[in-house]
Amino acid sequence: MDVVDEVKSRLDPVEYIGRVVNLQRAGRNFRGLCPFHNERTPSFYVFPDRGTWRCFGACGEGGDIFTFVQKREGLQFRDALRELADLAGVQLSREATQKRSRREHLAAIMSAAVEYYQRCFREAGGQAAQDYVYQKRGITEAAVSAFRIGWAPDEWRSLHDYLLGRGYSEADAVAAGLLIEPESGGQPYDRFRGRIIIPIADERGVFVAMGGRALGDEEPKYLNSPQTELFDKGRTLFGLDLAGDAARESGSVVVVEGYMDVIGPWQAGFRNVVATMGTSLTEHHAKLLRRYTSRIVLAMDPDSAGMAAAERAGELLLGSPEQMGRAARHANAVSLGAGVELRVAQMPAGKDPDEVAREDPKAWTRTIEQARPFPEFLLMRLMGDGRPESPLEARRMVDRMRPILEAVTDPVERAMYVQRVARHLDIPETAIMDRIRRPMQRAPRPRDIAAEARRTPSPEDMLLALILRHPSLRLKVRGLPADLFSSGINRELFLRWVADEDLAMEGEDDPAAGHIQWLRGLRLPPYSDEEARKAAGQTIHAILKERLLQRQAALSEDVASLERELGANRVAELSEMAWRGALIPDDADRVAHMVIEDLELGLSLHRREEPRLA
Ligand code: UTP
Ligand code: MN
Repeated sequence: MDVVDEVKSRLDPVEYIGRVVNLQRAGRNFRGLCPFHNERTPSFYVFPDRGTWRCFGACGEGGDIFTFVQKREGLQFRDALRELADLAGVQLSREATQKRSRREHLAAIMSAAVEYYQRCFREAGGQAAQDYVYQKRGITEAAVSAFRIGWAPDEWRSLHDYLLGRGYSEADAVAAGLLIEPESGGQPYDRFRGRIIIPIADERGVFVAMGGRALGDEEPKYLNSPQTELFDKGRTLFGLDLAGDAARESGSVVVVEGYMDVIGPWQAGFRNVVATMGTSLTEHHAKLLRRYTSRIVLAMDPDSAGMAAAERAGELLLGSPEQMGRAARHANAVSLGAGVELRVAQMPAGKDPDEVAREDPKAWTRTIEQARPFPEFLLMRLMGDGRPESPLEARRMVDRMRPILEAVTDPVERAMYVQRVARHLDIPETAIMDRIRRPMQRAPRPRDIAAEARRTPSPEDMLLALILRHPSLRLKVRGLPADLFSSGINRELFLRWVADEDLAMEGEDDPAAGHIQWLRGLRLPPYSDEEARKAAGQTIHAILKERLLQRQAALSEDVASLERELGANRVAELSEMAWRGALIPDDADRVAHMVIEDLELGLSLHRREEPRLA
């Protein structure tokens, strides 16, 4: 039994929920006024047999005790788990709790440092910094506030003294990457000295690192936080905390190389822009972005330095055919792995995204709109060299393009590129097809270990199992409301899966690990993608139907007890009046509606069709 089950088995939902909701017995179940919306007629039910609750009124919320606590107290699943485990006397692994509070502590130090540097920027000592930011770089006051731009005084221990004065330890400030510990021993000193500070936040806005720009030509131009417990370059995108909404609304996100290339467009009103900070775009980055949109546009400098960075971004080195193929394979893997579409936008010659956005917003828009799919971008660069003048040259060109074409694993896409190349080179498609290898067949997955059934899977367990088994369902299913899952753990897993398909476990002591394994081990028929989609549709249907049946059962019990109270004739009379829309006595209103609801529910259950997946 995992911790979640254990907590559930130890807590009585009626007793627990009954602390905040006044519950009355209604047959086998309990009923009360919904705590999540205002109502006069109780439509909130607790089902002790299943350990669940649901509001059949306006809000339609439901779940288990975990979801109840989450909703009521606005907590994340893990915090709800912590609270309930505490109450149930279930020991959570200490490591998990400690790791979390350690991160929170380091984040608090980062946040204190960001505030301190912001203050230094605005004070008299920050005059040179202000001149640089406002005059030299033309950054606006609004951008300074939004990006929390600061100034690290040119002193050895100013932040050091500030943090220690606030009660933080040297060791923790070193761990956060803010102080440097001399190898020779001796007192730690500030990492950032005499630099403009650009804080880096994670997608939730928690500061995890910073970049410090030199005022002049000192090297390095940017000094960045090292890799820490909080900061992993390969999983962090500068500006994402500010860009998320715009990315979602505009349907695309633009990835640039650097801090200034995010800030410039932001000022020009282009707010769906994030930066990789000089590394390649990893699959982790892409998955992070996919929470907002699946269309990713890489916007890189065309100059040589910029090109080198674009090459890093797609892990492409435009040199030998092998290197190009490697780049194309990387891009293909990232886009397939993360379920995103990778495009490349080429800024007008000699211009940074920063400059383009500010000086010529129309050109920015055009450039982003004209971004090409990654393989096409590569092929165009090769084909741009002109048409071949001899058969030998044509063959050489095909050979250079071959690795790029081979990297495209989707047969339809590949055929399309082959066609274009063939037209450009003016040779038959088959001549190219013959030269490239067939797409590699995906290795069949090793058989899942047939796990012993721990319990009979519910429809929502089955739905999750299907989703995990068939990545092709992703696009269809990820838009479902998490509320569809009434078990807290299932809901948590669904949300995690929406965020990250791998469902990476959060460490060995992840309370969900056992459940994930169990779901993965469930035996499913060997569905094709199409069949899996059908099965998912039917499963969703089953979940909804089960919910309606529950509601009907609860209502019928209510009606039965009303009939005992008022007599069946009176109940029938009132409901008939309500059905006709006739005026009925005030106090009977409730009765009548209940009966009508019962009737309508029966009808809708009867009529209910299988929902089609969007
Ligand atoms: P750029 O040299 O293009 O910087 O490097 P930039 O963003 O355009 O900055 P300005 O306009 O010159 O001030 C792109 C990115 O590469 C990383 C930074 O993240 C930078 O924004 N970089 C660059 C460093 O980390 N260190 C450096 O010394 C240079
Ligand atoms: Mn620049």
